[in-house]
Amino acid sequence: MQVITVSEFGGPEVLKITEAPLPKPGPGEVLVRVLAAGVGPWDVTLRRGGWTGSLPYVPGGEFAGVVVGDTGADAALDDGTPVYGYPGLTGCYAQYVTCPVEQLAPIPEELSAIEAAAAPIDAITAEQGLTDVLATGPGDRVLITAGAGGLGHFAVQIARILGASVVATASPQHHEFLHRLGADTVIDHTKPDWPEQVRGVTDAETPDAQRVRWQQYNGQPSGTRLIHMAPWFDDESLVVILQARYDWQDAAEAHRVIERGHTQGKLVLVVDDDLAAGLGV
Ligand SMILES: NC(=O)c1ccc[n+]([C@@H]2O[C@H](COP(=O)([O-])OP(=O)(O)OC[C@H]3O[C@@H](n4cnc5c(N)ncnc54)[C@H](OP(=O)(O)O)[C@@H]3O)[C@@H](O)[C@H]2O)c1
Repeated sequence: MQVITVSEFGGPEVLKITEAPLPKPGPGEVLVRVLAAGVGPWDVTLRRGGWTGSLPYVPGGEFAGVVVGDTGADAALDDGTPVYGYPGLTGCYAQYVTCPVEQLAPIPEELSAIEAAAAPIDAITAEQGLTDVLATGPGDRVLITAGAGGLGHFAVQIARILGASVVATASPQHHEFLHRLGADTVIDHTKPDWPEQVRGVTDAETPDAQRVRWQQYNGQPSGTRLIHMAPWFDDESLVVILQARYDWQDAAEAHRVIERGHTQGKLVLVVDDDLAAGLGV
């Protein structure tokens, strides 16, 4: 099969298409023929030297594709079933990938493969933060900084679905976009006084230090969370916004766009030639 590899750390130009053996699914893993792979800032961080495993490695942490053969049989996933998932931070810029069965899910009816590929990492991370970490519910008011990017645009929509009102921050060119996604108030984070503006619209005083809790977390791969979100994708209360899609041979260009730091929604690489031809990429 063909894969994109990073054999030395560096700029986007280090991404190269090479040949690699087909991965073999281990116990509890499904072999997937990849149709498309999402691109995010984590791909850039690893490519620049953040990857701590051995070189070369195959980038890409999220995919949409189809189950190959009987490898999904234990989970009643037939040959050819469309699935999407988050197998780990690498491996998805490839024609085939293996994924633990509990880290993937069937693609919801209303999502195309190309949209589905861009969802797993950021949708899971946003939903986990808003539910497990923040227990967001009706009547809450949530501030979502960097609301227009890959993670933020899911967080804004999911906070609304959970019944919260949303104050989001973004550069001016993304304000209308965020209102369309359901943000009640959007603040320009290019202005140095944006924190005061946030406090102004929420009528909030600077809280006492004892009342402020800082909790960092990482999104954990979870097919169960994807299944939980499927009805939202299907009734289109949650949509995947793609700023652009690229033939996977143009992965370097996608990385350059991510590096500029002002993506609206997500970027995706189309890995499957037939799909790419159908989409005109
Ligand atoms: N730990 C985890 O599990 C996990 C999972 C997913 C993502 N993340 C992290 O979350 C962060 C956001 O990811 P993303 O996918 O949304 O990135 P992205 O799609 O590349 O979007 C970048 C976002 O950053 C905003 N931004 C750029 N410069 C900024 C500045 N100076 N001040 C404030 N905001 C600024 C942009 O807003 P404007 O264009 O509106 O300026 C844009 O919304 C990244 O650091 C990513 O690695 C972590």
